Amino acid sequence: MSLEELKTECESCKDCPLWESRTNLVFGTGSDNARLMFIGEAPGEQEDKTGVPFVGAAGQLFDRYLYAVDIPRESVYIANILKCRPPRNRDPLPTEEDACRRHLEKQIELIDPKIIVCLGRVSAKRIIDEGFMITKQHGKWFEKNGRLITAVYHPSALLRDPAKKGEMLTDMKAIKAKLDELK
Ligand code: URA
Repeated sequence: MSLEELKTECESCKDCPLWESRTNLVFGTGSDNARLMFIGEAPGEQEDKTGVPFVGAAGQLFDRYLYAVDIPRESVYIANILKCRPPRNRDPLPTEEDACRRHLEKQIELIDPKIIVCLGRVSAKRIIDEGFMITKQHGKWFEKNGRLITAVYHPSALLRDPAKKGEMLTDMKAIKAKLDELK
């Protein structure tokens, strides 16, 4: 199966009710064979409108970190735990995360990244460990199924609390260094 075929499959998915209220599926964007994959939480309003992940205010801030550490956005892959927007940006429900999981797993398998970076708490709890504490454990490295995994603050958290920006830059620099190391 190709990523395009998986996207077509996701477009007709009705495994949870979110397909009914969404405008667009937000499948993911970037390089099909990216070595680095970022996984956020769920599409917001702008993402739902455009079908592209991380294009709203949080996404624009995230772009600045990618630029700061010299990682071209088009060289990575960006997706979310959920492919459809939860109404009014509420947190994803566990049932929605469970329903969407198989699509993300297939997507990861097809892209086959060396490094996965969880953007925020919701993603880290799903991908790394249910008990993950973002404040304490961001920037730590884990290994799962032969891939290196880490988590950083969600860019929305940085918009709410700019004091976290220094830690975010440190983590992003470490991700770039790890990427270069794996070359
Ligand atoms: N927040 C996310 O977690 N994902 C997006 O795509 C946009 C905002």
